[in-house]
Amino acid sequence: MSQEEPVYPVHTEIQEKASIKSLDQYREIYQRSIHEPDHFWAKYAARLEWFYPYTHVQQCDMKRAVFRWFSGGKLNASFNCIDRHLDKLGDKPAIIWEADEPGSGHTITYSELHEHVCRAANVLRQFDIKKGDRVILYLPMIPELAYMMLACARIGAIHSIVFAGFSADSVRDRILDCQAKMVITADEGLRGGKKIPLKSIVDSALRGVDCVKSVLIAQRTFAEIPLVPGRDHLLNQEMKRQRPECPAEWMDAEDPLFILYTSGSTGKPKGLLHTTGGYMTYVAATHHHVFDYRPGDVYFCAADIGWITGHSYIIYGPLANGATTVMFESTPLYPNPSRYWETIERLKVNIFYTAPTAIRALAREGESHVLKHDRSSLRVLGTVGEPINPEAWEWYYKVVGESRCALVDTWWQTETGGIMITPLPGVTDLKPGSATRPFFGIQPILMDENAKPITSQEATGHLCLARPWPGMARTIYGDHERYVQTYFAPYPGYYFTGDGCRRDKDGFYWITGRVDDVLNVSGHRLGTAEIEAAINGVFQVAESAVIGYPHDIKGQGIFAFVILNTEAEDLSQEDLVSAIREECRNRIGKLARPDKILIVPGLPKTRSGKIMRRILRKIAEGEYKNLGNLTTLADPDVVDFIIDAHKTMDRQT
Ligand code: PRX
Repeated sequence: MSQEEPVYPVHTEIQEKASIKSLDQYREIYQRSIHEPDHFWAKYAARLEWFYPYTHVQQCDMKRAVFRWFSGGKLNASFNCIDRHLDKLGDKPAIIWEADEPGSGHTITYSELHEHVCRAANVLRQFDIKKGDRVILYLPMIPELAYMMLACARIGAIHSIVFAGFSADSVRDRILDCQAKMVITADEGLRGGKKIPLKSIVDSALRGVDCVKSVLIAQRTFAEIPLVPGRDHLLNQEMKRQRPECPAEWMDAEDPLFILYTSGSTGKPKGLLHTTGGYMTYVAATHHHVFDYRPGDVYFCAADIGWITGHSYIIYGPLANGATTVMFESTPLYPNPSRYWETIERLKVNIFYTAPTAIRALAREGESHVLKHDRSSLRVLGTVGEPINPEAWEWYYKVVGESRCALVDTWWQTETGGIMITPLPGVTDLKPGSATRPFFGIQPILMDENAKPITSQEATGHLCLARPWPGMARTIYGDHERYVQTYFAPYPGYYFTGDGCRRDKDGFYWITGRVDDVLNVSGHRLGTAEIEAAINGVFQVAESAVIGYPHDIKGQGIFAFVILNTEAEDLSQEDLVSAIREECRNRIGKLARPDKILIVPGLPKTRSGKIMRRILRKIAEGEYKNLGNLTTLADPDVVDFIIDAHKTMDRQT
């Protein structure tokens, strides 16, 4: 191990009972997973229940970007998450719903989950939803979201969940892109005591849209909402009318399970398509090993189901393993910064998984909020979504985990379906800030600037993956060419992650962040092009360039450099800034509002018109010297103007 960084060894008490108990055992299994992948993955597929056996473990071709896992095999994700547990675990809590007001939620056993999901599936059938139809779920973190996902899976409909913080325009774009036949929403969402008018946002999203035939509405707050006759129906009333039995559809392993939209480097979000057999195999295996899940554990992933983390590690992975999973409706700060720790104490949580941004926000509030709650039930802590800075890591490990819990910093993506680079609690010594080593079957490769794999142990480069894995997205819905171009064209024969990465002399991986035009704001992915398109929609704006800059809590903040039209002069700077922020909120959602907006007379462009974002990034960080070679700029003077504007802004704030 290196001398420079602190290293935290595996805890022997965790190691003794862990599913993988030593680095040697990990290495041996890892070698097997790489050299005999079919044999390896067949063992994990066998942990699921299949209605009919598959013919091949995999038929994959990294060059052609064609991937098939367990094809010919028939199974159902909902059946695997519920029905097969009923005999032994019928009375066990499947979901503990932790509602916005502390302690006001309830528990749903596996038998109850079965009943609700069957009724929900029959509602879908009643409204003519068939295998292969797309259903948009725009719901808060209420049990109905879990029921509807599993109900879609049960009848073979493809769900596409849209995070309930996205705007009407974003919902509409996604509905149109996948040609959804149904939207399921709630009257209002409730988060941190604040109401979000979801049904009314859906009404705006549906203006002029004709593919959606019905809207089902769950009642969260029982607010008065207008119903469109013939189109809108109250979900809970419909569920009551249905029978509590519904056979699970036989799905091919390669039949779609869901579409999830995420941002890329163009203005249009990509609908990543995940299929059934490989995805379920992968999320069940990773949930089991990465969190060292043990029967009887209470497992709490604080993410929102609207993101991939919630799909894989609140619903599909944990339920496939018969776990008790907590569904959290609130925020880390509501009603006070003790919320997570109070919940952990009350529910006796053993495994807790959250995002670095939440840890940073809570660390700022001080230790006392943590220390006043008993956290002795905790055994494994996890993080996901963005690089974690060593200070936040140490706080999480020492203050929250009392230096006795394992801490897994898990690197993965919407595209990968499940965790790819991660410590294992019984195996991996930890270095704060490193996602450590690859999961079984995963082969990371670092590429140099000539697109050649770097063979030396210590290296920095673009992170690629050399082998297919069962959980990978199979395509971008409706745009396979974009899938090929984005992930497989940059380094032929490899999957390109879009991330930069360093490998140290111990073989540990350190993710350094995105190398494309994608920002990671509080663990949420946003394309700079999407935000620029929204900003450019403001009448007074001629052009804009968006970059990420280091932000204490969010990891990355959004910095927008904006050039105005000449007509803009009569609007005050303050009004302009709020118009821009409002437009981003309306077009994308609150999370896309720029943190800083700087009006500039021009942008640093090459003679061919390409914006040199590298220069803008440096200026945003207050680095006015060492801006590199400026001679390729069409107008080098513009840099001084931008620096002056930035200095003035800095003085004012
Ligand atoms: O840049 C990486 C970062 O989040 C990106 C994926 O974002 P998304 O598809 O929204 O999925 C987030 C939840 C899985 C990655 O390309 N990222 C994710 N986890 C980590 C991370 N960066 C550093 N360390 C991580 N543990």
